[in-house]
Amino acid sequence: MKKIAVLTSGGDAPGMNACIRAIVLTCERLKLKAYGYLHGYNGLLQQHYKKLEAKDMHNLIQRGGTVLHSARCLEFKTPEAAVVAAKNLNELEIDALIVIGGDGSFRGAHHLSQHWQGQVIGLPGTIDNDIYGTDATIGYYTAIETAVSSIDKVRDTADAFERIFLIEVMGRHAGFIALNAALASASDHVIVPELFETTEKALAAMLEELQYRRDNHGSVSYIIVIAENVWPGGLGALVSELEQRTGSEVRPVILGHVQRGGSPVPQDRILASKLGSHAIQAIIDGQTGVMIGECNGEPVAVPLEQTWAQQKPLEPFCVEAMSQLVNATTD
Ligand code: F6P
Repeated sequence: MKKIAVLTSGGDAPGMNACIRAIVLTCERLKLKAYGYLHGYNGLLQQHYKKLEAKDMHNLIQRGGTVLHSARCLEFKTPEAAVVAAKNLNELEIDALIVIGGDGSFRGAHHLSQHWQGQVIGLPGTIDNDIYGTDATIGYYTAIETAVSSIDKVRDTADAFERIFLIEVMGRHAGFIALNAALASASDHVIVPELFETTEKALAAMLEELQYRRDNHGSVSYIIVIAENVWPGGLGALVSELEQRTGSEVRPVILGHVQRGGSPVPQDRILASKLGSHAIQAIIDGQTGVMIGECNGEPVAVPLEQTWAQQKPLEPFCVEAMSQLVNATTD
């Protein structure tokens, strides 16, 4: 009987539990044994694991976080660590390891596959959606939902005071959450790394739009959604620039880790369930060294190295809609 292990690694994402559930239930149906390593790659290094059974998967699909816990494990980059992990996997007679995580976790999975004979499968789990080769990652839709509902609330107070607000969202070095949250909340401007050129250009665009609004609509609120890590000097530098140049108060809001929590929205639960059960099928079919993702509603297997070697572009249709509706000087 095949033995399958799973771990969650890197930034946790809503839907990781739904994915674990799908893996365990599929294993049970196919009479495979399932194990969960705890605290990401740390558990693999310390042989810290537990047996996973279908009965423990009850009431789990709706829970955020990950019951296996997660961690970033710098130590796993060394060849020695991969050798220890391979030894531990062999000792437990594991045939295949599934890693649910983002690109750092996939690099770890690839590293392990150079030192271990078993099958290694990656499943994309990160709120950032920055994994090449899959249309969406597990957790991304919930993060957008959280960002949008928060921006809607900020909009109420922004309107009341007719203030400028700068709202920073997560995404690491990608603008997927910022772009989609800005579009869905009808924010007034969005700044994402993929489209950012210079601070002067970005400031000029914002000031022109704001002036247009003030000339045509009187004093108005103005909401700028900004992806983290974009603005040189950080959010504080942009707040000062805007206050100086507009002569108005600017309030910053950093949404932060709230975007990583919460009950996964149905889209994330569905994606996680499909990918989890498909990963088991991929193992049975003998696949290894690949990420199982989804493109145009179909499962895809993408070599792990490709998932980080290529930058995933923002959806052009979404960029176009944003430029028509959000970053528009005329309306
Ligand atoms: O990759 C997920 C993510 O939440 C990023 O959006 C963010 O940049 C990073 O993790 C934060 O990491 P940490 O929780 O270690 O501060």
